[in-house]
Amino acid sequence: EAPKPLAGKRAVITSGPTHEAIDPVRYIANRSSGRQGHAIAAALARLGAEVTLVSGPVTIADPAGVNVVHVESAREMLSAVEAALPADIAVMVAAVADWRAADSADQKMKKKPGEAPPPLQLVENPDILKTIGHHANRPRLVVGFAAETRDVAAYAADKLARKGADLIVANDVSKEGVMGGVRNQVMLVTKDGAEAWPDMDKAEVAEKLAAWIAKRF
Ligand code: C5P
Repeated sequence: EAPKPLAGKRAVITSGPTHEAIDPVRYIANRSSGRQGHAIAAALARLGAEVTLVSGPVTIADPAGVNVVHVESAREMLSAVEAALPADIAVMVAAVADWRAADSADQKMKKKPGEAPPPLQLVENPDILKTIGHHANRPRLVVGFAAETRDVAAYAADKLARKGADLIVANDVSKEGVMGGVRNQVMLVTKDGAEAWPDMDKAEVAEKLAAWIAKRF
């Protein structure tokens, strides 16, 4: 039996994209495979944590040993995360859509010959990480991710403060193969500074992050 340093601890993880309906057949979404979030959920469970994984629509399988809640939209994702509180650990990995359609149509919008395309009005979605980072029932350890294409460390430090997180795991998604791929190169940013990890498998990032988290408990 492997040691279970997180036995008795509860963790809630978000993973994957969210889908924001425009009408019954169309949606707005971010690109996200769910690979990194799902791997983190599995790694925390292997260390003994009781894990709730709140997943947006993905094509990968539910990880073993984890309670999975499937959601579509950002608002559903936030409700599911709040329903999983109290928790000791929150790791918000999902690529949540920042905006949703102001009104989603009940019926499929029809394209009419000769008519201009309909305008798409957007409204802001809730920021799940920020909500949890400032929650009355805030988990002791709140971790966020930051997918950036430049100035990774500076944006991550800003995000740490703004979102009320204890740790931001930042990656440079301009690097080929990170988005949708199996490898990742991350930088850990806390109030005490930044630590860059070498390029590795997303599964390995998950293992090392789970170990980093376990050390904090
Ligand atoms: O602000 P930005 O989207 O770059 O922040 C990324 C971090 O915030 C990730 O941890 C992501 O899961 C989280 N996030 C969220 N809800 C949003 C937007 C981002 O939880 N609406």
